[in-house]
Amino acid sequence: MNELDSLVESATQLFAQSATPADLENAKAQFLGKSGRVTELMKGMAQLSVEEKKSRGAAINVTKQAIEAALTARRQALADAELQVQLKAEALDVSLPGRQRGQGGLHPVSLTLERIEGIFGSMGFDVAQGPEIETDWFNFTALNTPEDHPARSMHDTFYVEGGTATAPNLLRTHTSPMQIRHAVQHVKKHRAALDAGQPMPEIRVIAPGRTYRVDSDATHSPMFHQCEGLWIGENVSFKDLKVIFTDFCRTFFESDDLVLRFRPSFFPFTEPSAEIDIQFQTGPLAGRWLEVAGSGQVHPNVVRNMGLDPEKYIGFAFGMGPDRLTMLRYGVNDLRLFFDGDIRFLSQFQ
Ligand code: PHE
Repeated sequence: MNELDSLVESATQLFAQSATPADLENAKAQFLGKSGRVTELMKGMAQLSVEEKKSRGAAINVTKQAIEAALTARRQALADAELQVQLKAEALDVSLPGRQRGQGGLHPVSLTLERIEGIFGSMGFDVAQGPEIETDWFNFTALNTPEDHPARSMHDTFYVEGGTATAPNLLRTHTSPMQIRHAVQHVKKHRAALDAGQPMPEIRVIAPGRTYRVDSDATHSPMFHQCEGLWIGENVSFKDLKVIFTDFCRTFFESDDLVLRFRPSFFPFTEPSAEIDIQFQTGPLAGRWLEVAGSGQVHPNVVRNMGLDPEKYIGFAFGMGPDRLTMLRYGVNDLRLFFDGDIRFLSQFQ
C-alpha cells in the first residue's frame, strides 16, 4: 500500500473511532486542517518540477477527496445514530392498549328518577324542584301538622340554623312541602284569571328529591329519596289517583299482572289517606304486598294554604320512595348499597 492510500486508511480509522461529532472534528483537523497531514503533503510539493507537481498534485487531490468522503460518511453515520437514540427515547408504542377513560353512568336511583319523570311526564305532569333545607311552615304547619301535632314525632329530623326559636329550619322530612310551594307559585301565576272568575289550569306536578330523617338500618337511610305527586283541579277524584298510579306502576315495572291495594291510613295533610301496596303475580316477589307510597285526597286546610278555595278545588297527592322502587326493580336487598359508593355495585347498572 502506498503512502497516500495508507493515509486515507488511517484517516478512515480515526474517523471510525470518533464517537461524537466533536471527536470527529478533531480527527478531521489532523488530516485536513491548516497543519494537517494533507496540507503538509501539499506544502511538500514546493520543490517538485512542474510535471511532477501535476501528477503528485492530482494524486494528493484524490487522497483529499477520499478523506473528505470518509469524513462525510462518518458525519452522516454519527447523525443517524444520534437520531436513532432520540427516536428510541421518544418512541410511542402504538401497540400498547390505550388508557381507558371510565365510561361512567347514572346512579341506579337516578335511573329510577329519570324513569319516574318520563312516565309522569307522558301523563302531563310537570317536574318541580325545591329546597332541602325547609322552614317549619312548609314542612309541617302548612301541611296541617301544627306544632305539638303527634305526627311530627314520626318525622324526627336534623335541625339547622335559621328560622325561629320555636320553629327552626330543618332538613325536609318529605317532599310534601313541594305541594305547597308549587301550588302557591301556580296560583300566583294564574292570579288574574282566578280573580276574574276564570278557570285555573289544573296543577299536575311531581317533585322528586332528597329527604332526611333520623333513621338508619338496612331499609332506612338518614338521607333518602322521595317523589311527590300532586293533582289539583275542580273535578279530580280518588278514582284518578287509582288510574294514574296503577298505570305508573305497571309502566315502571313493565308488568301488566301487577295489582294495587289502597290500604286506609293517616296523614295530617290528606283525608282520606291510603298507603299504596303493590303485588306482583309472577316473578321472585310474587304474592307479597309491598308498600310503595303514601297517598290521599288533599286536606281542605292544605288546599286553603295553597291559596285556593277548598269548596271549589280538590285533588290528590302521593309520596313514593324511589329508593324502594329501585330495590324492587333490581332485586337489591340492602338500601345502604346505594349510598356506599362501591363501584363494583354501581357499575352493574350501566
Ligand atoms: N309525605 C308522606 C310521607 O313522607 C307521604 C305522602 C305524600 C302521603 C302525599 C300522602 C300524600 O310519609
